[in-house]
Amino acid sequence: MDKIVVEGGGRLVGRIPISGAKNAALPLLAAALLPTGPSTFKNVPQLADVRTMGKLLRMLGWTVDEGGKSKTDLTIAPPTGKKKPKLEAPYDLVKTMRASVLVLGPLVARYGRARVSLPGGCAIGARPIDQHLKGLQALGATVTLDHGYVEVTAKRLKGATIVLDMPTVTGCENLIMAAALAKGRTVIENAAREPEVEELATVLNKMGAKIKGAGSPLITIEGVDELLPIEHAIMPDRIEAGTFAVAAAMTKGDVLLDGARPEHLEAVIAKLRASGVTVAAEAGGVRVRSNGDLTAVDIITQPHPGFPTDMQAQFMVMACIAKGQSVIREMIFENRYMHVPELGRMGADIHIDGRVAVVKGGMKLTGASVMATDLRASASLILAGLVASGKTEVLRVYHLDRGYEAIEKKLKAVGAKIKRARQ
Ligand code: EPZ
Repeated sequence: MDKIVVEGGGRLVGRIPISGAKNAALPLLAAALLPTGPSTFKNVPQLADVRTMGKLLRMLGWTVDEGGKSKTDLTIAPPTGKKKPKLEAPYDLVKTMRASVLVLGPLVARYGRARVSLPGGCAIGARPIDQHLKGLQALGATVTLDHGYVEVTAKRLKGATIVLDMPTVTGCENLIMAAALAKGRTVIENAAREPEVEELATVLNKMGAKIKGAGSPLITIEGVDELLPIEHAIMPDRIEAGTFAVAAAMTKGDVLLDGARPEHLEAVIAKLRASGVTVAAEAGGVRVRSNGDLTAVDIITQPHPGFPTDMQAQFMVMACIAKGQSVIREMIFENRYMHVPELGRMGADIHIDGRVAVVKGGMKLTGASVMATDLRASASLILAGLVASGKTEVLRVYHLDRGYEAIEKKLKAVGAKIKRARQ
């Protein structure tokens, strides 16, 4: 296993290239199950989760090959001739990446059947998929649970009105993909509004789907009989960009997040500005500057366009060194404070009461050996290491590699004293 070693101190100055978005790539790779021929995606992030999704598509019988012009191209082709698609996602793969459930919608829409291991919980919460399944039942599918697997069957899905209990991102994505090939009209109410949901609808419409309203709480899908292959460059990763923006803010830095789209980061940019950070759209990206005078801000995580839960841990670290006290409310996942005990070992003063974290500012963090527990918690420990005095070792960085492409190379290129080593 690898670890990442960070020496604290030093400003981040320069340009950081932002990779393709993990949370767009995963549903888009699943959507590649729908068209009748090979689709090519560009700007695919080199991430463990994307490789896992590629492995799953291969297990189902699709070919997934990096043969494109650049290493970030991926071409996904359906099985041809005598080769029949398999329609099952096994436990030992799904347990490593819950986004595997995204193959449910496409497989049952196109082939009338899918059998996927229930993802089980994960470090940040139970993360059930009841909304995915209720939505598929509304579309006329039969859903059965046995031996830890969910089996979904349907002769042909039929359009329906689906009202989600909460704006679940992958739940919405699964149902949009299923409805794209259903017979008739589907309306999804209380839909997730994340940019990645919009990106999926854009790509499905390029394939010939008829989807309106993605990005709003009301999405309408007129089912079609067939979808055609496409080529598409994946949108930049707003959470990677937000993570590096906090790194620049904490280190009195001046960083250009190359390729970042400010319109995907409005809630994060508003909070950075409220903290005293200068943020501007510049040269095809977002420029973040700080003189190090940071003011404490309060955070409530909400579905998009509210403040993203995937940025909560990063802002918590910035709150440790800002002037004043911050109150953070994690309203999306019930257990997303795993970074707190680790930050405590670096000298942070954070009090948790249920979903509320009260963070004392003005702290001087000190380097320590700390344990990564989930993707964004791991990133927050790297951020803490950038400003802590002395050396910080972040262990179990496989969590980090799921969602950040070459994070240590990108940070080193703008001045961080950081390296990867064998644990
Ligand atoms: C997506 O997860 C993202 N993952 C997560 O990013 C992100 O944190 C999350 O959305 C919220 O923005 C991908 O897109 C691959 P949800 P998802 O369904 O779809 C409850 C990262 O760090 N819920 O929107 O799984 C659920 O328990 C990851 O990149 C149900 O109760 O999240 C949670 O409390 C972490 N029943 C809330 O809704 C359901 O059927 C939001 O979950 C579905 C969800």
